[in-house]
Amino acid sequence: MSTDLEKIAKSRKIKYFLISFVDMFGVLRAKLVPARAIGMMQRDGAAFAGFATWLDMTPAHPDMFAKPDPDSLIVLPWKPEVAWLAADLWMDGKEVEASPRVLLKRQLERAAKLGYRMKTGVECEYFLINPDGTAISDARDVQPKPCYDQTALMRRYDVISEICDAMNLLGWCPYQNDHEDANGQFEMNWDYDDALRTADKHAFFKYMTRTIAEMHGLRATFMPKPFLGLTGNGCHAHVSVWDSAGKKNLFLDAKGELGLSKLAYSFLGGIIHNAESLCAFFNPTINSFKRINAPVTASGATWSPNTITYSGNNRTHMIRIPEAGRFELRLMDGAVNPYLGQAGVLAAGLDGVKNKRDPGKRLDIDMYALGHTVKGAKKLPLNMLDSVRFADQSKVLRDAFGNAFMDSYVKLKMREWASFNSALTPWERDNTLDC
Ligand SMILES: Nc1ncnc2c1ncn2[C@@H]1O[C@H](COP(=O)(O)OP(=O)(O)O)[C@@H](O)[C@H]1O
Ligand SMILES: [Mg+2]
Repeated sequence: MSTDLEKIAKSRKIKYFLISFVDMFGVLRAKLVPARAIGMMQRDGAAFAGFATWLDMTPAHPDMFAKPDPDSLIVLPWKPEVAWLAADLWMDGKEVEASPRVLLKRQLERAAKLGYRMKTGVECEYFLINPDGTAISDARDVQPKPCYDQTALMRRYDVISEICDAMNLLGWCPYQNDHEDANGQFEMNWDYDDALRTADKHAFFKYMTRTIAEMHGLRATFMPKPFLGLTGNGCHAHVSVWDSAGKKNLFLDAKGELGLSKLAYSFLGGIIHNAESLCAFFNPTINSFKRINAPVTASGATWSPNTITYSGNNRTHMIRIPEAGRFELRLMDGAVNPYLGQAGVLAAGLDGVKNKRDPGKRLDIDMYALGHTVKGAKKLPLNMLDSVRFADQSKVLRDAFGNAFMDSYVKLKMREWASFNSALTPWERDNTLDC
């Protein structure tokens, strides 16, 4: 075993470890383990009842074991006697097919066999709201175009600087924080990393942001569209593929169009080709579809895509190429499962590379104003049901993720849709009572 957690507990004075995992719906679950038991837990894993989480298991399933990855260790900056560990799920001596982290590792292994190593960065937008969740927390943050508003940003200095200081301490190399395009909305950026590390950081960032906000009497939400009329929470992903040593960016080609290589365009073609089914993972909630396909917001733009197109440095398309050597995928939202999001990007990208998928011509128009003039571009699904049906029928996703995983995911999402449909909404009454 490369890292002995018992030794780390002694040397870093850690009293407790959070052995955590993310289930299919992105919920972060954990056991709080005292340092005296960490040796055993590192060897055998922490036991959980799978049925109690979103993993499509029954109460009769045997124990599931979360085996921590010592390389993921994060000492909580605001409580250094506790350390967080991301774990992979095991049952009956085998990895659990439904475990999102296991699934991402499988995609990374497939890529590694081809000599590829994906590196990604994520931009996790969030709102600071009142503890009861009804409104943004700053009543004075009312400008119609609030993006980069210095005064509103600095009213939240205590929370934002505490999160940024934590990222700095953890060596994530944070480099900027801003007020985003909706009232009450913020974004904090840190450096890209290997996709698995970024997924672990993404899961931890959400936990950290919620926790620190609560410590300041506020609440943080990553909900895709918490307030109609305001820009929603995106989670843009920046993507590049490197050689196995992680030294050479294989997406970079100074002679390629906009500085991207043929490999990058095929990868991008894979995302374009599979976008409709990827929405089941990138936009996984009922609410997600109020962000994409949304009517114009108070600020003048939704900043989210509705059509499956790509562009240069132009934020009105699903994919933007901001500079040589990488692209930005603007489709994901704040509800994206950190592991399934990355796994979806890689699965679709590898499909694009294998089949040399042509992304078609770049569009340089303002998609919000002129989208209706574009002929033949595919539209994104209009709701969760459509996206899950696309995913269910996707041979690419089934080949990459396996039928067991896909069947479970589709089953749980269909149940969620049925549950949503069992609610009678005010809209229906308003529009149908007098029918
Ligand atoms: N080659 C690259 N591969 C993957 N991610 C990258 C690469 N270069 C930069 N990034 C990451 O892209 C993200 C850019 O986020 P940000 O600065 O908010 O850009 P913007 O708001 O313009 O989209 C950061 O996480 C950054 O580290
Ligand atoms: Mg940004």
